[in-house]
Amino acid sequence: MGREEWSSTLGFILASIGSAVGIGNIWRFPYIVGANGGGAFLIPYLISVLLFGLPLMVLEFAIGRSTGKSVVSAFQSLGQRFSVAGLAIVVIVSLILSYYLVITSWVLAYALFFALNRPVDFGAFTGSYLPLIFFLLSGLAVFLTVRSGVREGIEKVARYLIPALVVILLFLVAFSLTEPGALEGARFYLLPDYSRLADPGVWTAAFGQAFFSLSVGMGVMLTYGSYLKRGDLFRSASIIVVADMLIAILAGLMIFPLVFTAGVDPAAGVNLAFVTLPSVFVEMQFGMVLGALFFLMLFAAALTSAVSMLEVPVATLMDSYGYPRKRATLLIFAAVMLLGFPSALSYTALKLEIFGTPFLDLSDYVFGTIGLIVAGLILSIVGGWYMDRTRIYAEIGGCRWQQRVYTVLIRYCVPIILLITLLGSFFQVTG
Ligand code: PHE
Repeated sequence: MGREEWSSTLGFILASIGSAVGIGNIWRFPYIVGANGGGAFLIPYLISVLLFGLPLMVLEFAIGRSTGKSVVSAFQSLGQRFSVAGLAIVVIVSLILSYYLVITSWVLAYALFFALNRPVDFGAFTGSYLPLIFFLLSGLAVFLTVRSGVREGIEKVARYLIPALVVILLFLVAFSLTEPGALEGARFYLLPDYSRLADPGVWTAAFGQAFFSLSVGMGVMLTYGSYLKRGDLFRSASIIVVADMLIAILAGLMIFPLVFTAGVDPAAGVNLAFVTLPSVFVEMQFGMVLGALFFLMLFAAALTSAVSMLEVPVATLMDSYGYPRKRATLLIFAAVMLLGFPSALSYTALKLEIFGTPFLDLSDYVFGTIGLIVAGLILSIVGGWYMDRTRIYAEIGGCRWQQRVYTVLIRYCVPIILLITLLGSFFQVTG
């Protein structure tokens, strides 16, 4: 049997947008902007996306398409020691998925509570054992999607959910901007404070956010590229990147006007999505409907991202160990649920903590921040320095000088930026 394939370039682009657009866009991006100099943050963000995120995405697509394999097998063609590097990436993605699913499950629960007109208190909800049921449910949704295959599962789900997400988002933005606090909210969100650009922490925050939001450096785009036969990679990647940025910026334009209209603290972190916004919805006219729509949209975004993460280890089992898709999916699903269990339990009455930090927050730091950068480093170094350049360029196309610029970006700029971000992340904890 030949390798699975997307049904069209559009299907591939939608699935990739599905991977990129996630919790990182709708919830994380807005509060990071708010906390890092508002509109001024868009400058380092734009630079990181265009100079580092986009080239890395194109590289991943090119490796995937030229080898027709997922990470481990693609690396293995370079020699056995490289397959260990590939395996490290696969493990990191699986670990990120294990806690990403926990947050996805909270989103699902909130969507349901609002739809049923029964909003809950965050502490009361997470303190119960209800989150475990939702953890299982969202895991199942991801499992069933990936199990159905590239075209019938991943692509189909993205084809429905991404347009739906955009429609809901546009509706919510339009609604928010007519609220009385719209101007004040937009000002908090976008008014540039250029003095913040002198703070290196703002820059590393932008780099980290760009890599996370674009799903690059983790073999996800590589795997998706391996199911693609034709089409201009640079063009596809540009569309995905622009869509990802637009959706992130729009998300802030819906959130902050609501927060300022309600006159509550524009909190950052977990509180913004699960405490502040729900409290705003509860007080508003039509708040239940708006809340249900918001969390439904967030769930669509999270689901398609989680699906892309699960596909990485599943494709590895299929490519490197010859497992059939269904068995591979079941095995990895079970492993990820087990791995995620401590995170799922960390806010429950059991309070699973290490040195006073909930396991979930710890996973977010160790896997989602540090692990993500390490994976990106491995990918850019192996891809930039060891892969056959002529083969990669044959996939990407472009003229001589473009290829030269591209080589410099991938070989030098991306790894250096990732190293700096890694150092910055260590300081973030100690400082
Ligand atoms: N890009 C996704 C988001 O913004 C998260 C993600 C990271 C997805 C890594 C796949 C791989 O939420």
